[in-house]
Amino acid sequence: MLALHSMQTYLGQPQLPSGDKRWKMVEATARRHGREPNALIETLHTVQECFGYLDETALRFAASLLGVPLSRAYGVATFYHFFTLKPKGKHTCVVCTGTACYIKEAPALLAAIEKTHGIKPGETTPDGELSLVTARCLGSCGLAPAAVLDNVVVGKVAPAGLLARVAKGLHP
Ligand code: FES
Repeated sequence: MLALHSMQTYLGQPQLPSGDKRWKMVEATARRHGREPNALIETLHTVQECFGYLDETALRFAASLLGVPLSRAYGVATFYHFFTLKPKGKHTCVVCTGTACYIKEAPALLAAIEKTHGIKPGETTPDGELSLVTARCLGSCGLAPAAVLDNVVVGKVAPAGLLARVAKGLHP
């Protein structure tokens, strides 16, 4: 009888959840570990580094890549304190603090959000409108400094530009 993992491999790759390049980085981590179930922590780590948090889509994708039940992915994500489930804000701003973005002034982006909205990475505004998270690399280093606002990549962005985009998202 085929083991679940071999079955997954036999049936081929699970589909990427979207065209977002970050999913390819998640897939690459799983592949590097032979898509073995014990690569779950590493794979979830990559999700968190790329997206700043884990949501259901990410957990489902990681689970299907490795052929483990979704419940196991949830179990690991909630057991280890270094994993963060999707932030609570209605809107989410992910600022990349990977090397390429960091040297192109990513800290200034974080400082601008903190000054204007009063939140640091990992926090949500008291009105629940905006969450700020950081990611280590969004897979778009050519666009440094990069951020993702509600799943839209904003590249080569200055603090004022990012604040304007955030404001537009909050008050369309
Ligand atoms: S370091 Fe920011 S996108 Fe790669």
